[in-house]
Amino acid sequence: MTTRTTVVASEGAPDPMATTAPVLEVEHLRVVFRQGEKTTYAVNDVSLSVPLGRTLAVIGESGSGKSVMSRALMGLLPTTATITGSVRLLGQEILGLPENDLRQRRGKDMAMIFQDPTRSLNPTMKIGTQIAENIRIHEKDVSRKEAIARAVELLRVVRVPAPDRRVEEYPHQLSGGMRQRVMIAIALACQPKLLIADEATTALDVTTQAQVMDLLLDLQQQFGMSMILISHDMGIAATYADDVAVMYAGDVVERAPVTELFGHVRMPYTRMLLDAVPRLDRPAHALIPVTAARPPDLSKAATSCRFAARCPRVQDDCLQTHPPLEEHEDKHAWACFHPIPLERTSA
Ligand SMILES: Nc1ncnc2c1ncn2[C@@H]1O[C@H](COP(=O)(O)OP(=O)(O)OP(=O)(O)O)[C@@H](O)[C@H]1O
Ligand SMILES: [Mg+2]
Repeated sequence: MTTRTTVVASEGAPDPMATTAPVLEVEHLRVVFRQGEKTTYAVNDVSLSVPLGRTLAVIGESGSGKSVMSRALMGLLPTTATITGSVRLLGQEILGLPENDLRQRRGKDMAMIFQDPTRSLNPTMKIGTQIAENIRIHEKDVSRKEAIARAVELLRVVRVPAPDRRVEEYPHQLSGGMRQRVMIAIALACQPKLLIADEATTALDVTTQAQVMDLLLDLQQQFGMSMILISHDMGIAATYADDVAVMYAGDVVERAPVTELFGHVRMPYTRMLLDAVPRLDRPAHALIPVTAARPPDLSKAATSCRFAARCPRVQDDCLQTHPPLEEHEDKHAWACFHPIPLERTSA
């Protein structure tokens, strides 16, 4: 019999997550869209893992490939997409599984909440029926009545007031925040091991956003789920995530536990993102207009650093070779030949 060595965090108490097998492991994921003459290398090379009960925030500018990456994990991309690499969910390879098998895993093992609940909910169907149908897709022997009772219970869990009345209502009768809670209830219906929230709170006002985020965190602890939190908002990533992956032009360019990442930024692109966040101690005109830059060309495969044209630390080698994402320090990976030196990384 072999004895397993327990991995202990370098300082303080043992890290309980260190020995847990990841719920999700993604290696060298690539997504290329081909439509007529047009080719888009939307996800170039993404490797990441999400351990049990942990939250990974994925941040990056618009068009960096966050949604395409999450849809690839869920098997929800159109047939114009060619997906390569490896996606292991609970230890099993799911990339390339037939649609029928994937449909079974969606909802039961992994679920996704989208940015816009008005587009994801059926306007002609009662809230209760929509949740109940989701339950019955995965649990065939549950009666309609039982499923509606579970829908009421789920609405209670996501803190929708008067849930027995709400199940009888239609999406348009609910506020944006309440509709997003319904989407969360649908996602939780079969207690998935992994929940992907793609800008799930972006459309909400700040107060509702905080309530929904707190709710998600609560539910995560209650159900022991792992979560991928996709957000433009650094504040959300810093507050709610355990680990952070920064995406740029289809690549994960920096990845680390949250305090390490924000405390010791090494990738110039991450620094630029952080510098673009408004701060009270800095005049507004000092902000770097990140969004004003020309978007990177995704029509060709990357042969050099895609951030080079905007990078203050650029050198010749950045223009000749595409820097791979490598773990240069314990749990801290970056894809950069000339990272920010450690003594100058603090926020
Ligand atoms: N179905 C599709 N066919 C072709 N290209 C697509 C398709 N979906 C997305 N893309 C392209 O893939 C790239 C990545 O898009 P994606 O939606 O993943 O960005 P994102 O990081 O989620 O941005 P945002 O923050 O605005 O949501 C973009 O260039 C986009 O135009
Ligand atoms: Mg998106």
